[in-house]
Formats: sequence, C-alpha cells, structure tokens
Amino acid sequence: MSEYLPGLAGVPATKSNISDIDGEKGILTYRGYSIEELAKNSTFEETALLLLDGELPTAAALSDFDEQLRENRRVKFHIRGMMKNLPDSGHPMEMLQTAISSIGMYHPGNECLTGSDTCTDLNYVHNMTVTILAHMGTLVAMWEHIRNGYDPLPPRTDLSYAENMLFMFTGKEPDPLLAEILDVCLILHAEHTTNASTFSVLVNASTLASPYSVIAAAIGALSGPLHGGANQRVLEMLEKIGSPDKAETYVDKRLANKEVIWGMGHREYKTKDPRAKILQKLVTRLIAARGGDANPMLEIATRVEQVVEDRLAEKGVYPNVDFYSGILYQEMGIPADQFTAIFAVSRAAGWLAHWREQLGDNRIFRPTQVYTGESLRGYTKIDER
Ligand code: COA
Repeated sequence: MSEYLPGLAGVPATKSNISDIDGEKGILTYRGYSIEELAKNSTFEETALLLLDGELPTAAALSDFDEQLRENRRVKFHIRGMMKNLPDSGHPMEMLQTAISSIGMYHPGNECLTGSDTCTDLNYVHNMTVTILAHMGTLVAMWEHIRNGYDPLPPRTDLSYAENMLFMFTGKEPDPLLAEILDVCLILHAEHTTNASTFSVLVNASTLASPYSVIAAAIGALSGPLHGGANQRVLEMLEKIGSPDKAETYVDKRLANKEVIWGMGHREYKTKDPRAKILQKLVTRLIAARGGDANPMLEIATRVEQVVEDRLAEKGVYPNVDFYSGILYQEMGIPADQFTAIFAVSRAAGWLAHWREQLGDNRIFRPTQVYTGESLRGYTKIDER
C-alpha cells in the first residue's frame, strides 16, 4: 500500500483477539464479553486475567493470580528512595514512567528476549506481567504520600487491588462504595483495542525490548492530552467554564477558534462511548449515596454535553471515556493530576495482554514513509552557503 493516511486512520496495524469496538452501536467487548457485563459482574483482577489468558478464569486460577498480585505489590527500598528524590511537583505520569523503568533494573528478567526472534515461554511472560501489574497500583498510590512529604504506607495483602490502592492513597480503611467504584473504573479503562499507547506497546514489543520499556513507552503515549491526559483537561475546562449557563458561549467560542472540547470525540466511536455512560451513572450514584448535594462540575458537564451534541452530533462527536471519569475521581477525593496515572494502572492489563500477543507472533514493525524532502544534491562548503 503506498497511500499515506494521516494518523493511520482505518489502517489495521495488527491482528488481535483481545478487544473489539462497534463504534456505530457503541459496543465495547473484552474477549467477547460486553463492558457493561464485566462492570456489573467482574473484578479488576478477573478482568485482567481474562484479557491476558483469553477466557474467564476458574476460581482456582483467579485465586492464584490474585495471590501473586498481592505478593508482588511491595516496592523495593531503593526505588522508594529514588521516588523520594523526585521533585514533588513532578506529574504522576512522569513519576510512573520513571519508576516503571527503574523496576526493570531491579527485577530484570529479560532472558527470554535476547538472541531469539520471539519468546514463547508463557511462564516468563506471566511472571513479568504479575510484577508490572502488581507494582503499577502501588507506585501511583505511594506517590501521593511521597509528594506530600510522608513515608509511603506499605501495601497490604489482605485487600483487593482497588481497596489497597485506596488504602495507600488515603491512609484510611477503604470505604466499600469507593472501592467498588474504583474497581469498576479499573475494569472500564483496562483495554481499548489498538489505540496510540497500545500501538506503542506493539512497536516496542516487536523489537524485543524489555516489558518495562514497553510499558514505559505506553505510559508516555497515554500521558498526552489527546489520549489519556484528556480527563485532567476536562476538569480544568469545566472549572474554567464555571457555571452551566456559560457552557454554550464557551463551546461556541472554542469551536469558532477550531479548538477541541476535551473529553469529546473518538476515532472509533460515532456515538456516546459506552464507558462514559457507565461512569456518568457512577457519578450520580456516588452523589446520591452522599446525600445528593449537587456537584457543580456534573451540572456544567451535562450542559456541555447537550451543547456539543447539538453542534457536533452530525460529525459523530459525543462524550468519550474521559468526559465523566475526572468528575467521578474528583468526587472520590482523588487529585486531578492522578487521574491519568490511575488510567495507566488499569490499562497496564490491556498493554500486557497485547505485549503477550505480539510476542506470540512477532515481526518487527518497520513501516515505510512518503519522502517529501530534497532529491540527491551535492554538499556546499560552509563558506559558499
Ligand atoms: N471537539 C471539537 N471538534 C471535534 C472534537 C472535539 N473534541 N473531536 C472531533 N472533532 C471534530 C474534528 O474537528 C473533525 O471536524 P472536521 O471534519 O470538520 O475537520 C471531526 O470532528 C472528526 O474528528 P477528527 O479530528 O478526524 O478525529 P480524530 O479521530 O483524528 O481524533 C480525538 C480523535 C480523540 C483525538 C479527537 O476527537 C479529540 O481531539 N478529542 C479531544 C481530546 C480527547 O478527549 N481525547 C481523549 C480520547 S479517549
């Protein structure tokens, strides 16, 4: 194929059986199971194993995996020391990228990836996956204490993945409703076909780079505001709008200036993202459980959604996953700059499933390009230019 398509829109980059999107109907499935069913019935641990292994696990397999995750949560003393020396003002995504790379220095284990075309040792892949996935949640939660000048709390093995994150974040016994909501958020963000960060996983995996490098690259890609970084931008946007009656003028002004509305639009969905619908319901549920005091951000968001639908429905621009997740996390008391880092924790499950899939049938990525530069020409000496 020689036609250049910006952003590789519509160009298949891989074959995958991990997840699928029907963008017209607004359906997202992991391994064939709808996101609504998983959010209702599954847990993050089970969904991660489903993504990794391809089938819903038996009770025994899930229990083993859960135990492995719990046992691998602890972060080495030297990495904690390194994190304490990072600037407090550093963005959690930069911390996470740094820390994940550093874990590769302490738990190297890339013996499977040297001197061969691929790696078929599933034990190796599983062990690396557990190490990375178990550490991701701990690192993000630890950073909250460290950047505020405290020693991080040690992870607990008696808590689920979501409960332990909340415990390490707040230092308090996890609230059951918040833990349930965080668990659903982790399920919803765990996988989403071949988007920018997952594509970076494929490219990096294809060179047989270590899984830590693969995940560090993906964290970098996710951090951008056109991808996972949008949830933080949404909240900043809603704060800037200030009240529902100002939403229409704000949206129109941005559209007139050809600026995007954060949390709206998606390459794949031409209708409302199914994850946004679930997150919106969770915000309403949490507000109701707390006595029903209106959340001003939710009211502004609802108005922005109406205005955007009115202006951009014909282009298929509707709320994406990032539109309501920031409001939900804010309602849960999580600082705005941690939103994307929590997204990364969850998405690591999908990234690692794609890493495994790529290793199972690997060929190095080496696309071509349309060259638009000068043709061959002679060198001009510096005093003749
Ligand atoms: N605000 C305003 N207009 C938007 C829009 C948004 N958030 N998203 C898409 N559009 C418009 C585009 O301007 C384009 O209009 P045009 O045909 O008149 O040029 C049309 O809808 C198609 O969008 P396009 O830019 O081709 O989509 P894309 O697939 O290249 O980009 C995103 C997808 C997600 C990068 C884009 O929708 C976006 O920037 N959204 C805001 C950032 C965001 O929320 N990212 C998180 C994604 S989960």
